[in-house]
Amino acid sequence: MRTNSVPFLVSILVLCVVGLCHGDGLKKHFYKKSCPQAEDIIRKVVWKNVAQDATIPAGLVRLHYHDCFVRGCDGSVLLNSTKDHLAERDAQPNLTLDGFEVVDEAKDAVDKACPGVVSCADILALAARDAVAFQFKKPMWKVLTGRRDGRVSIAKEAVDNLPPPSFNFAELVKNFASKGLDVHDLVVLSGAHTIGQAHCESFFKRLHKNHGGAEKSLDPKYAAFLASQCPNLSNKTTQVDMDPQSAESFDNHYYVNLKQHKGLFHSDAALLTNKKSEKIVNKLLDQKAFFKAFAHSMKKMGAIEVLTGNSGEVRKKCTVVN
Ligand code: HEM
Ligand SMILES: *[C@@H]1O[C@H](CO)[C@@H](O)[C@H](O)[C@H]1NC(C)=O
Ligand SMILES: *[C@@H]1O[C@H](CO)[C@@H](O)[C@H](O)[C@H]1NC(C)=O
Ligand SMILES: *[C@@H]1O[C@H](CO)[C@@H](O)[C@H](O)[C@H]1NC(C)=O
Ligand SMILES: *[C@@H]1O[C@H](CO)[C@@H](O)[C@H](O)[C@H]1NC(C)=O
Repeated sequence: MRTNSVPFLVSILVLCVVGLCHGDGLKKHFYKKSCPQAEDIIRKVVWKNVAQDATIPAGLVRLHYHDCFVRGCDGSVLLNSTKDHLAERDAQPNLTLDGFEVVDEAKDAVDKACPGVVSCADILALAARDAVAFQFKKPMWKVLTGRRDGRVSIAKEAVDNLPPPSFNFAELVKNFASKGLDVHDLVVLSGAHTIGQAHCESFFKRLHKNHGGAEKSLDPKYAAFLASQCPNLSNKTTQVDMDPQSAESFDNHYYVNLKQHKGLFHSDAALLTNKKSEKIVNKLLDQKAFFKAFAHSMKKMGAIEVLTGNSGEVRKKCTVVN
């Protein structure tokens, strides 16, 4: 080793100790030897489910995001509440998360082939990828594996770590930075809102900001449409497509909508309140650029504070610790 590379290696080591060398320990095809069929089995289960229910990709992508933002991608979002602890998944009962059953089904199938080998955190990361892949019949981003499962899930930590839809630009940037993600990642990953639905709760306040008038950043016609769907908050089950044109298609329409002031949340509209961020939005109006950037940022997100090596465990059931 050349002596002048020592300072470089030392600084890498320091970065790792402070937790900034994300994804260290994750590998391509981690289960190649221990469970060679794992990724095929998971894909088959996920595709079977998505073929029957096109809303599953949104559920799984959001579940993976929630997992990664709370205690890292450690499958903690999958854990059920216990007698003593309200778990992450029960933190926001009105804004239900979806996709748990698909993860459980994939876990059962994988464990039939290789009992106790593949972690729930990895299954979730792979399932999110595969669910979106169904539309294209090929994966849109790479998923490294080797995550281990955590043993702790606390509802309050979900509330503390997940940005609410009311956040402004500065608040979003700060939240993402605390997860090692930058402004580019923020704008790119928000593009996931091209699929899925939201409850009235999540945007209702925007419709009635100024004595009956909607927030300025919201197109008046779109605001009127949303108000017709959500006249009040008494119906807790009403949901609205986040991308009105193609809520089940993974594409870059999120940015097209955004430019037309049809971003659904305050946090979506916030991406146009900063020059740098607006520039990134403009770049992502090119679909190829969006797909490429999304793949890059998902890899980063999928490596947040992961447990690897001997940390954590490989759960027997994704809903309970061993
Ligand atoms: C930038 C900060 C973010 C905020 C404030 C935010 C907020 C929200 C809210 C409020 C909902 C609707 C919940 C409901 O009303 O039921 C939602 C849905 C969703 N979010 Fe985000 N989100 C953010 C980032 C992300 C990221 C990074 C991803 C994934 C990469 C993501 C993926 C999704 C998906 C796919 C849905 C639809 C879920 C479904 O239809 O089942 N979000 N988000
Ligand atoms: C976990 O909670 C879900 C939803 O409440 C329930 O259907 C499932 O049976 C629970 N699993 C276990 C192992 O307790
Ligand atoms: C959730 O719904 C219940 C009643 O269904 C309501 O009392 C509560 O305020 C809601 N929680 C949130 C965070 O909106
Ligand atoms: C909420 O809106 C629905 C539909 O317009 C209406 O039937 C209901 O009476 C309203 N509830 C309240 C509390 O205003
Ligand atoms: C709530 O809204 C949904 C449509 O979003 C509708 O199917 C359902 O009947 C409504 N429930 C009540 C109690 O009005």
